[in-house]
Amino acid sequence: MIERDTALLEVRGLKTSFFSDAGRTKAVDGISFFVDRGRTLGIVGESGSGKTVTALSIMGLLPDAARVIAGSVLLDGEELIGAPESRMRRARGSRIGMVFQDPLSSLNPVYTIGAQIAEAVRLHDVGAASVDAEVELLLRQVEMPDPRSAARSYPHQLSGGMRQRATMAIALAGRPELLIADEPTTALDVTVQAQILDLLARLQSQSKMAMILITHDLGVVAAVADYVVVMRQGRVVETGAVDALFAHPTDEYTKQLLDAMPRLGVG
Ligand SMILES: Nc1ncnc2c1ncn2[C@@H]1O[C@H](COP(=O)(O)OP(=O)(O)O)[C@@H](O)[C@H]1O
Ligand SMILES: [Mg+2]
Repeated sequence: MIERDTALLEVRGLKTSFFSDAGRTKAVDGISFFVDRGRTLGIVGESGSGKTVTALSIMGLLPDAARVIAGSVLLDGEELIGAPESRMRRARGSRIGMVFQDPLSSLNPVYTIGAQIAEAVRLHDVGAASVDAEVELLLRQVEMPDPRSAARSYPHQLSGGMRQRATMAIALAGRPELLIADEPTTALDVTVQAQILDLLARLQSQSKMAMILITHDLGVVAAVADYVVVMRQGRVVETGAVDALFAHPTDEYTKQLLDAMPRLGVG
């Protein structure tokens, strides 16, 4: 049987808990969703609703205290939960790239931006003619202002927006099929937020990547996503196409999130 229309990523019944002497905390409590190739899924929810733990579960990057206790994460039909670390390392970067909220924590302070992007290029071996040329290409792709000088800079010498562009270049070095961006603009100034969101949307459509955009901000989702999953207390409370969800939210919590949203150019 030929299976058609397999989603690029399918998450089924995922449950992830934290364990400590005090007991167990259910951070993600049985969520399911899928992401099609070339599409953007927004995951929205208030702080503590389980968004980051969902992303880390997919990436196999959970802290020691946390464990996936049930469910399935299928990347192109291949099970990632319980996959050996060697296979997860290959998947990270070359199949799934990730951008975190705080660019400083994902960049190494003692190496230049150029060196860190070059390392990612070498690691993923995408068949680039030369590492330097590929670094420059990536810096241009993320629309880094003055890319040559940025490449020679250390993270602390760049603005927050430029640092986030650098982490995006690293995430893109392996030409991933899926980019997971966890609150990529939350730590940035409002004007810079809009630029980074525009850039993410452009990169996604140019490269036909799929994207999961995690945010507590429904406005961000409205601007960029095709589909939305609304999370609350580790569960999915609502899911659907962005337009439909905004026009006819069915869940009480989604309605509250919408009510809390500033009316951007509406009415
Ligand atoms: N380091 C941790 N130790 C214990 N519990 C944690 C830890 N990180 C997250 N959690 C639990 O997981 C829940 C979801 O966290 P998280 O996924 O980071 O939320 P979000 O990204 O939606 O703000 C939290 O409400 C908390 O109960
Ligand atoms: Mg988070």
